[in-house]
Amino acid sequence: WADGVSKVDGVLTVAGVSAVDLAAEFGTPTYVVDEDDFRRRARSFKEAFPDADVYYAGKAFLCVAAARWIAEEGLNLDVCSGGELAVALKADFPPARIGLHGNNKSLAELRRALEVGVGRIIIDSFEEIDRLRELTAELDVTAPVMIRVTAGVEAHTHEYISTSHEDQKFGFSITGGDALDAVRRVLDAPGLELRGLHSHIGSQIFVTDGFEVAARRVLRLHAEIEKELGVALPEFDLGGGFGIAYTTQDTPSTPDDLARGMLKIVADECAAMGIAVPHLSIEPGRAIAGPSTFTLYEVGTTKSVALDGGAARRYVSVDGGMSDNIRPALYGADYSCTLASRVSDAPAVLSRVVGKHCESGDIVVKDEFLPGDVAAGDLLAVPGTGAYCRSLASNYNHVPRAAVVAVRDGEARLILRRETEDDLMTLDVG
Ligand code: LLP
Repeated sequence: WADGVSKVDGVLTVAGVSAVDLAAEFGTPTYVVDEDDFRRRARSFKEAFPDADVYYAGKAFLCVAAARWIAEEGLNLDVCSGGELAVALKADFPPARIGLHGNNKSLAELRRALEVGVGRIIIDSFEEIDRLRELTAELDVTAPVMIRVTAGVEAHTHEYISTSHEDQKFGFSITGGDALDAVRRVLDAPGLELRGLHSHIGSQIFVTDGFEVAARRVLRLHAEIEKELGVALPEFDLGGGFGIAYTTQDTPSTPDDLARGMLKIVADECAAMGIAVPHLSIEPGRAIAGPSTFTLYEVGTTKSVALDGGAARRYVSVDGGMSDNIRPALYGADYSCTLASRVSDAPAVLSRVVGKHCESGDIVVKDEFLPGDVAAGDLLAVPGTGAYCRSLASNYNHVPRAAVVAVRDGEARLILRRETEDDLMTLDVG
């Protein structure tokens, strides 16, 4: 849960505003962000890595308000599409503090990035080098670039969100030789200024060993480039991927622990190889946005089913589901939840919180002990939904996407309005 969340007489409150009032004013489902918590987590990375640039990974959650919080807390911003760049620009985010990612950036996206003057572009393919070569010549600009490499690390996380083993689409392989080829081609392109190497090993990672192995391998390549090609590489990016607690079983590292481990490895490795320590950057997304937010749902129906062995499971259906949080269905992710609108003394029963979509995999919380009297009209809150929930939301079953509300100092403010059926009909031009 976010720092500002507590229960007062059974009613969940965030930064002094009750969940009951939030539901009455904004409807449900709604993502509720504790703005101070979001800002504090952003700052905690800045403080833990004081000499590094911290790029908030906007893919976790991005809107104009969030981009402004990030700018105000002194972080940089990582975007990975023209759409995310457009949000950043709408928020007047300083382009020099934006990095552009993506394994298949279009010409139009690259052109826009160069025209507005983003601070760096992270190259992920040979075609991209050619495209940037042409565009920088045409626009008569120099592009600061990083090269994304694959460190060959098996991150211990879900297969879909691991990105540093060889057989996946991101980065240039170090062992296969593509990384060095890419470096040579970039050095050969007059409009490209190579700032350094980039490595991102995956997401929702708890053990720091993966980051450390990756840092070592990539720094070895960094040293090889400096020594053998005689080019100084001023920067080094370690990516994001720092895990958060979704349930009480999860034990993530704090930014301070991460910093201690990672900064030491980089310093030791550089000393061992006799190279200068490059300027570091990191790209946390989930660890900033995730814990700051809970989703508020209203219960609509309930049902009990008999399980083998005689026990029962109660199905509690809420008014959202896989359209506002695809993570259980996509990654088997576990969440927890709590009754947010009242006190209950009813004994807890094994419950499964499900959505309103036409799939049995539409699960919000797989197993939770909820009071046995939870019924239609009650509010449930699911914590840890600030990252990769609104940003991965869909309109499955023509369900309009949920609103996002930021709460701070007793005031609630709508920052992304709820979609309406009219919004969806506007797209339907048939
Ligand atoms: N940098 C790069 C290059 C990335 O690809 C990502 C995430 C990040 C930074 C931020 O990672 P974070 O700190 O948020 O873990 N939809 C998945 C997560 C996909 C992550 C994609 N890349 C999920 O819901 O778990």
